[in-house]
Amino acid sequence: MEVIIVKDYDAVSQKAFEVMKEVVTGKKEPVLGLATGSSPIGLYKNMIKDHKENGTSYADVRTFNLDEYVGIPRDHEQSYWTFMHENLFSGIDVKEENVHVPYGDTKADCEAYEKAMEDVSVDIQVLGIGANGHIGFNEPGTPFDEETHIVTLTEKTRQDNARFFEGDINKVPTHAITMGIATIMKAKKILMVATGENKADAIKAMVEGEISTDCPASVLQNHKDVVVIVDEAAASKL
Ligand code: GLP
Repeated sequence: MEVIIVKDYDAVSQKAFEVMKEVVTGKKEPVLGLATGSSPIGLYKNMIKDHKENGTSYADVRTFNLDEYVGIPRDHEQSYWTFMHENLFSGIDVKEENVHVPYGDTKADCEAYEKAMEDVSVDIQVLGIGANGHIGFNEPGTPFDEETHIVTLTEKTRQDNARFFEGDINKVPTHAITMGIATIMKAKKILMVATGENKADAIKAMVEGEISTDCPASVLQNHKDVVVIVDEAAASKL
């Protein structure tokens, strides 16, 4: 695991963009695994800027998102589908038919998403990290061999995300559909971005802790190509 510590959010976003650009321009039909949350927004802004200013094209790119809430429609303002269109897809030339965000609440929906990913190999998977060490929506305790599945969100995660739902935890969905840890681990390269002091414990557990389902992100120690880009605050406990 390569850990790169830079000053602040903007520096994290710049460095992450450099890693991403290498993959996007270096592959013929790149497959990107994408994440939501505040952490990758700066990376996505840089991708849009680069597309507009330098013409980097996403016309041959396929994307697969990590997760989505259960129980809200795709066009809900807080769905991850909406998030991705607002923060990235509307600003680049990716083709809508090449965009995939999991959706649904049944086993069949989960299997359909795995099936959609079956013939591709994710070249780079962007990840944020939850304050409790979750990746995607794989909360502590999730077995490492799970593929796409439906999860019950922890109180902590719903609390952390309440800010997007008028600060009201009761409005935050209770379930989500998420790529499993086994799905995430299949990516050829993993790019994690994290900033801020409230991520410092999770980053320490991920990088220095024992590999355990108590901190789902610790599984990344077993992956052969992981780049973790953090600001000084998120790295403060390393
Ligand atoms: C959510 C998402 C994760 C994300 C995490 C951290 O729960 N499902 O994919 O990594 O929150 O979000 P943020 O980057 O806003 O701190």
